[in-house]
Amino acid sequence: MKLFGKVTAMAMASMMMFSLAACGGDNAPASTSGTTEAAPEEAAPAEKEEAAAPEETAPEEAAPEETEEAAPEEAAAAGGNIGVCIYKFDDAFMTTYRNALQEILEGKGYTVTFMDGKNDQAEQNNQINNFIAQGVDALIINPVMTSAADQIIATVKDAGVPTVLINREPTADQMSAYDKLVYVGCDARQSGTMQGELILDTENKGDINGDGKISYIMIQGDPENVDAQYRTEYSVKALTDAGMEVEELDLQRGDWDRNRGQEIAQNALAKFGEDIEVVFCNNDDMAIGALQAIQAAGRTVNEDIYLVGVDALDAALNEVANGNMTGTVLNDANGQAAGAVEAMEALLGGKTYAAGEQSIYVDYVKVTPDNVADFQ
Ligand code: GAL
Repeated sequence: MKLFGKVTAMAMASMMMFSLAACGGDNAPASTSGTTEAAPEEAAPAEKEEAAAPEETAPEEAAPEETEEAAPEEAAAAGGNIGVCIYKFDDAFMTTYRNALQEILEGKGYTVTFMDGKNDQAEQNNQINNFIAQGVDALIINPVMTSAADQIIATVKDAGVPTVLINREPTADQMSAYDKLVYVGCDARQSGTMQGELILDTENKGDINGDGKISYIMIQGDPENVDAQYRTEYSVKALTDAGMEVEELDLQRGDWDRNRGQEIAQNALAKFGEDIEVVFCNNDDMAIGALQAIQAAGRTVNEDIYLVGVDALDAALNEVANGNMTGTVLNDANGQAAGAVEAMEALLGGKTYAAGEQSIYVDYVKVTPDNVADFQ
């Protein structure tokens, strides 16, 4: 995926532009040494394999112990200290997102520390508390559990730390508890609808065998995650809204994971065989796994089965270009990272957000063989 492609530029242009420089919050900047777990090495798009083994190296700026009074002004002049909590490093899409965040933040002179929540909310809570104890100027948090939003919001509010939530959207009501809090992300309903449209745009609208209904399997992300819930619901809703009859042969949770996608598709293909006309995957990593199973079963995408994902990972873009995936949906990591940093800078500049205005959305974009080159 291009870092700042046409689409990202459009998404960014559609967001409010803030020009305030970060100049430190209420909290004195502090050293982040001792907390850094791993730093993404470069902004290049990363595949699952790379994501699977984040290196336990400290970033260059992980300085030796500093005392609080050591040089707060110096740190602020360098852009301030930002703590970033990612739900787990071992996630293909969030690795791309993390790399984009790192490039933008470091490019602006911030000192950034990324923490791997390891898919464990208790661990992430500790990380948030540690960041607060160190006096970071702002936090960017990708919660492990959507259900932990209340607690996270209460914690950052108590500490008075400006916070941007990313990737897992809390409710407007939850966010209204703290006016120095913003969510930057996407509306997952849109991605689900687009997946359905990708199927409707095929020559037989997904009804390959002409029996009057679209028979599909659904490979779900983590069902606690609103992205998984909405994509599952809205992909099928797009079909029924268009007047198509649908038949759900199978729905299994694959937790966003490539291997799980492969296993689920393999089992479903063994059980339902030719009856499966469409494989919906809530993300691309699972779709890449499903593709392996589809090919192993001797099926051919776009001839006797359709396959769609979400994210526009590089591997998926290649498969769309090669005709091995029907399509995907761009989940604009670069646009979201840029939006998150912009919102963070607005907060650091003193902006507060009124209830009901705390979500900033970046658009998804449908990716088909016709436009895939724009994203590669
Ligand atoms: C989704 C993305 C998935 C996974 C998930 C993590 O937006 O499509 O691939 O990264 O976020 O919460």
